[in-house]
Amino acid sequence: MERVLGIETSCDETAAAVVTSRLDVESSVVESSIDQHRDYGGVVPELAGRAHVATIRPVVERALVEADLDPRRPDITGIAVTAGPGLVGSLLVGLSFAKALALAWDLPYVGVNHLEGHLFAPLLEAPSLEWPLVTLLVSGGHSMIVHQRGPGEHEVLGETLDDAAGEAYDKVARWLGLGYPGGPVIDRLAREGSPEALALPRGMLGPGLDLSFSGLKTAVVRASEDHPDLALADVAAAFQATLAEQLLRKLRAALEASDARSVALAGGVAANSALREGVAALARERGIAAHLPALAMCTDNAAMIAAAGLHRLAHGGASALGLSARPAWDLREVA
Ligand code: KG4
Ligand code: ZN
Repeated sequence: MERVLGIETSCDETAAAVVTSRLDVESSVVESSIDQHRDYGGVVPELAGRAHVATIRPVVERALVEADLDPRRPDITGIAVTAGPGLVGSLLVGLSFAKALALAWDLPYVGVNHLEGHLFAPLLEAPSLEWPLVTLLVSGGHSMIVHQRGPGEHEVLGETLDDAAGEAYDKVARWLGLGYPGGPVIDRLAREGSPEALALPRGMLGPGLDLSFSGLKTAVVRASEDHPDLALADVAAAFQATLAEQLLRKLRAALEASDARSVALAGGVAANSALREGVAALARERGIAAHLPALAMCTDNAAMIAAAGLHRLAHGGASALGLSARPAWDLREVA
């Protein structure tokens, strides 16, 4: 049985996990530096990089110990680490650490694409899901609809032309003075408001599967400036309903145009209550299975990176020690 140590440092989470080829998650440790970034309204790359340097070693040790392994010479068969996309200074910390361990322990290692990692998260909870699978991958940095024939066989059907869904949440929250990150706060507020209180423009009404949230974001800000009497909860509800409607409309179109037998949500925005309800309803309507990973598996973690790494290593994908961080690594370039 293969057993891989996964390491993730692409943004503000320092994470390590141990996952077996049976997709058992033996440990998963996540430390976030988010408290250091709140005052700035977004992740400050320099602070994130420094936090990774300080926490990577204890986080990896904890992941090994929690998996009942000897942290000095663990019984693992390989190492998987996020090589991109992400903040270059943050990626380099994890990548250098993984290379050093691979060298010291004489183990193969593989640089994993962070987005491919997110695509493996639903599999960790449903290892026997039915293929093909269509995944709506929505995070702070990316928003895309991906078709997969099997693990690692992905085709991007559509993606955002401007802001990512989570980025739109974070920016709207910042303008409304709701703090950072914006997704969880707006999601909570939206449940107390009425979406009909404010009519917002619906974007991307054409037949394509690409997404766009920049216009919606601007419309929300303008509307709240023009109508200062509007309740925040109503603004949040209208924004959330319009954004979810666009995502679900495109996801429905992607499912109708494909042979998918399952649908999944992935990425930090997959924690969103409107999206989770909408995807479950869509799956029921189409008679296919919905996979809505637990919240800890939606946000950045290293178990998903280990899972993607297990797949890559099993298919001859070990990386050379000269591998560089790839801050803008496109999922389409992962072969
Ligand atoms: O995947 P993730 O942890 O990090 C990236 O790789 O980007 O996603 C973080 C994003 C943030 O933009 C945050 O506001 C958003 O996920 N988010 C949510 C919710 N929880 C987190 N967005 C909408 N509703 C939520 N409940
Ligand atoms: Zn992510």
